Amino acid sequence: MCGIVGYIGKKEAFNILIDALKKLEYRGYDSAGIAVWNKGKIEVIRQKGKVDELKELALSKGIKGTMGIAHTRWATHGIPSERNAHPHRAKDIVVVHNGIIENYMELKQRLKKEGHKFTSDTDTEVIPHLISNYLEKGHDFIDAVRLAACELKGSYAIGVIREKDRTMIAAKKESPLIVGVIDGESIIASDIPAVLDMTNKIIFLEDNDIAIFNETGFKILDIEGNTVERTIHTIKWTGAMAQKGGYKHFMLKEIFEQPIAITDTLIGRVKEDKGEIELDDLKLPDLRKIKKIWMVACGTSYHACLIGKYMFESNLKIPVEVDIASEFRYRDPIINKEHMLILVSQSGETADTIAAMKEGKNKNAYVLSICNVLGSTLARDAHGVIFTHAGPEIGVASTKAFTTQITVLFMLMLFAGKRLGLFNTRQLQEKIGELRKIPHKIQEVLNNAENIEEMARKYMTYKDFLYIGRGINYPSVMEGALKLKEISYIHAEAYAAGEMKHGPIALIDENFPVVVLSPIDTTYQKTCSNIEEVLARRGKVLLFTDTTEHEMAQRVESTFVMPKTIYELQPIISAIPLQLLAYYIANLLGTDVDQPRNLAKSVTVE
Ligand code: G6P
Repeated sequence: MCGIVGYIGKKEAFNILIDALKKLEYRGYDSAGIAVWNKGKIEVIRQKGKVDELKELALSKGIKGTMGIAHTRWATHGIPSERNAHPHRAKDIVVVHNGIIENYMELKQRLKKEGHKFTSDTDTEVIPHLISNYLEKGHDFIDAVRLAACELKGSYAIGVIREKDRTMIAAKKESPLIVGVIDGESIIASDIPAVLDMTNKIIFLEDNDIAIFNETGFKILDIEGNTVERTIHTIKWTGAMAQKGGYKHFMLKEIFEQPIAITDTLIGRVKEDKGEIELDDLKLPDLRKIKKIWMVACGTSYHACLIGKYMFESNLKIPVEVDIASEFRYRDPIINKEHMLILVSQSGETADTIAAMKEGKNKNAYVLSICNVLGSTLARDAHGVIFTHAGPEIGVASTKAFTTQITVLFMLMLFAGKRLGLFNTRQLQEKIGELRKIPHKIQEVLNNAENIEEMARKYMTYKDFLYIGRGINYPSVMEGALKLKEISYIHAEAYAAGEMKHGPIALIDENFPVVVLSPIDTTYQKTCSNIEEVLARRGKVLLFTDTTEHEMAQRVESTFVMPKTIYELQPIISAIPLQLLAYYIANLLGTDVDQPRNLAKSVTVE
């Protein structure tokens, strides 16, 4: 996720900005840039690659000055490259930005008509142009930033400087931005670790705040221009704690980031009022000619594909075959030009998934990738790509990438269904409406995380777990079991609940806890019967459901109730308590949660 920093004071801005950027490196990035103000001139230096390389380059140019802004970029619009790296400039206005501007195309077109020339593929570049446009119309610097902010839809945290003015301005909406409070100098950043070396006195800017910094101090305005007061907090975190946002592990932080990761994935793509999905100018082939869809991936991404199969087949009536990427090419799959291959990958660099892409291309299928990393091999080389905007995922066990992959698959299903004339506007509006409620419902689960922690305490000493579910809940329990084994090293296996009688039931006794996912859906009664079978063998049941009136709730040992949603979106909600259960058990057992033994974040060898 992008990181922004800014400084104004009496010291050399360059050193402070580079040190602060380095503290944000853990967030992940692909390019970096810096702009320093010196006696009415701003020098901008940016490049693809690491902060250390940027530092070398800037030093070789002798960059100097006492005010500046800097940025680490995690690409969302436009590949990682120098021209897309921040800061972006329009005339004498220079801007760094974190977030996604939803209406940038609209603004860009309007500004182009007024003579503005754009040089990058980013959404960000409209911001300096918009500010510059207001300056041309006679507004002062503060007002120009404020009026520009009023026009931005989506999320932003921005830092702005101007050649003619020794003033730095920051503004925020839905992306984090903090101010480090120091006598006679000011520092802004997207996250606390960037400023902790200088101060532990922090202001958390609120949505629609505009903060103005100059030699004498700072003031904060609301979007209408009225002065507002914000509390100064004293932070007691160490640097390492701060990188994880106060969470003990990146994995826990990433679990808690899911409401925002999904919101970011939806931004600019769902139009509830019109019942429309827009997928980044994606040019799909004529879907009426697609006779079969393949979904291929590894690990957690493979589970997202299995969920995709349930969604696609029941709604689109196109057969979907899901394959594990490492198996796919070796069985010489029968693929032709009337097929579509969907590859799902967080990293976009998994070797077997890349090999599956080649197999599909060689056999003339249309190849679409769903990736989280811009500029990755799968994103570049597929015929089409849809990005999950989960932000960088650092914990090896995938969490927010998984739920954003399901989000994208659902949007793609709606997009295809509309093209095939399978949904009317009202049906689309309803489904999109449900989708938009998902971040809020995830938050409801997260607010009850301590109940899961308690459950974890109760079951942490068991050596084996069985996970069962039916229908779309079956891949959800596969993912739940994978999470537990990956990070706690406890043996956990998942079965379709109906298969239990064909084997695993032989294992059940009081030492074999069974995690059951049983929301109210068409297979509810059947899953109740499976719970009966477990109880009859003195098995311990951990029930996850979406009703307080589950008929087995009184008879099982532990129950967790999740918010209700529609069938296709249930896996997103169900993922959260199962991730938390795995996390808390592993944490109680003291394993290396973020880097479990023998596992890698991205498997780039076959
Ligand atoms: C590794 C990771 C998993 C991930 C899988 C697929 O096994 O540890 O978390 O699900 O690779 O990775 P991808 O980047 O292709 O989604």
